[in-house]
Formats: sequence, structure tokens, C-alpha cells
Amino acid sequence: MKTISIINLKGGVAKTITSCNMAHILATVHNKRVLLVDNDKQGNASKFYKVHNYDKLSLSEVMTERHIKLENVIVHTAYENLDIIQANMTLLRANREVLMDTTRPQQNRIKSALATVSDQYDYCIIDNAPDINISTINALVASQDVIIPVKIDNFAFDGLSELIEQIDNVTYDLNQQLTLKGCLVTCYMRNEVNKQGEEWLRNQTEYPVFETHIRRTEKVDESTFASIPIREYSIRCGASRDYLAFVEEYLK
Ligand SMILES: Nc1ncnc2c1ncn2[C@@H]1O[C@H](COP(=O)(O)OP(=O)(O)OP(=O)(O)O)[C@@H](O)[C@H]1O
Ligand SMILES: [Mg+2]
Repeated sequence: MKTISIINLKGGVAKTITSCNMAHILATVHNKRVLLVDNDKQGNASKFYKVHNYDKLSLSEVMTERHIKLENVIVHTAYENLDIIQANMTLLRANREVLMDTTRPQQNRIKSALATVSDQYDYCIIDNAPDINISTINALVASQDVIIPVKIDNFAFDGLSELIEQIDNVTYDLNQQLTLKGCLVTCYMRNEVNKQGEEWLRNQTEYPVFETHIRRTEKVDESTFASIPIREYSIRCGASRDYLAFVEEYLK
């Protein structure tokens, strides 16, 4: 199983849209067995796949409980080959609890849990919160690949160097397998700001950047209200074709 963290310290850059649609395309177009992990207390990925539920186990218990069976936390989505671990606001408390419990390692709880199902999935995609906290550190420790969605605006590159520093630290201290696969330009519009921002990103050499960018398409917003992955909601729209191309580029 290959584990991918979708992460950016900035909010609203399409981390969740990218996670949910990448998972859906890997499962339905490429026939891969996919586990999506919602690692954000907002629970947006869980809501998108209609599994957000306070009465059921969530990533919080994976973080805090010693003998949890992942089979009891994983739920099927409406899509074949696509399962999910949900998250909700209890993740806030769970993160605090992990930090206070020094009786066992704090940074590899997600990794240890995922190891128990690694032969059941080809890909695990972790949708992270716009933050660095103990559960995002756990995600980075559990991952091999990192993808950073970037939405070009005046603040697009704020926090990017801090995030890269965190990724470098985790790579150095805890997980030598971690690779930054690239930044992914999302919500792309054909205007001067986007052109210049993208050009700047492509001209720097510090971070790799995916060739594919994801066009801004109203259909994406609509698809979140309908809770339908973009390839089912509107197969021909720009974002739908771009996400397809992006996943292909990632797989190459
Ligand atoms: N290609 C796109 N075209 C149009 N709208 C988009 C596109 N991608 C994302 N959006 C919209 O941008 C908003 C933010 O997307 P999303 O929730 O995925 O961001 P996020 O990075 O996960 O945010 P957060 O940091 O709050 O978790 C949503 O309203 C979504 O519908
Ligand atoms: Mg999100």
C-alpha cells in the first residue's frame, strides 16, 4: 500500500477536493483498492462521502485507543474499491490526549494502524487539516508521498517554506521514505495573477510542481453540494479532465 498525504498549512486550497477526487479516480478509473483517511476535524471528506457520524468510530479512536481494530473503523463508500476512515470534531480532543499520553510513542499511531490493513489496499490517501499538529505529523510519518495543493493568490506561498521545513524534519527524524511528489496548482483561472504565480512556481527549483493544473470550474462547488465526485458529476468539465490527467501524471 502506498500512502499519500495531501497537505498545506493554508486553508481552502482544495486539499479535500483533491483527496476525494484522486481517491475516486484511482478506485474507479484505475481499479485500485483505495482507503481515504479524513485527518481533519472539519470532517469535510467524511461529509463528502456521507459517512460523517458521531456515533461511529473515527480517526480519533485510531489515535487514542491502544487495541483498536481498523476493520471496525473503516467504512465502505457508495463506490466499489473506495473505503474511508471518517473524522469529526472529536479529533481535537484526541490530539490533546495523544500529546498528554507519553506512555507510548505519539508520532506513529496512524502508521501502526494502517500497517494492519496494508495488504488490503493499493493506495491510502490522507486528507489533512490546514495545520501542523500531532495528527498531521502522524500522517507524514505514515506516508511515502506528499502532494501540496496550491491555489494561486496573494497569499499562495505563505507557509510553504514552513511546511517544507516540517516535511524535511519528519523525513530526517522519523520517516526516511517520505518524498515531496509536488505542488499541484488548483482552482486555476486564466488571468494574469494565475499565470504569473504559476510561472513563479515552475521557475523555482526548490519544490517540484505537477505539470497538470486543475482549472477552476463551478461544477466543483456544485459537486460538493451534490456529494458526487467530479467525474460522475460532470465528466467533461475542465476540473474533471484535469483531475484525470493529474492522477495519470502521478501514477507515471
Ligand atoms: N477546481 C475547482 N474549481 C472550483 N472550485 C473549487 C475547485 N477546487 C476547490 N474548489 C472549491 O474551493 C473550496 C475549498 O476546497 P476544499 O474544501 O477542498 O479546500 P481545503 O484545502 O480542503 O480547505 P480546508 O483547509 O478548509 O480543509 C470549496 O468550496 C471547493 O468547492
Ligand atoms: Mg479540507
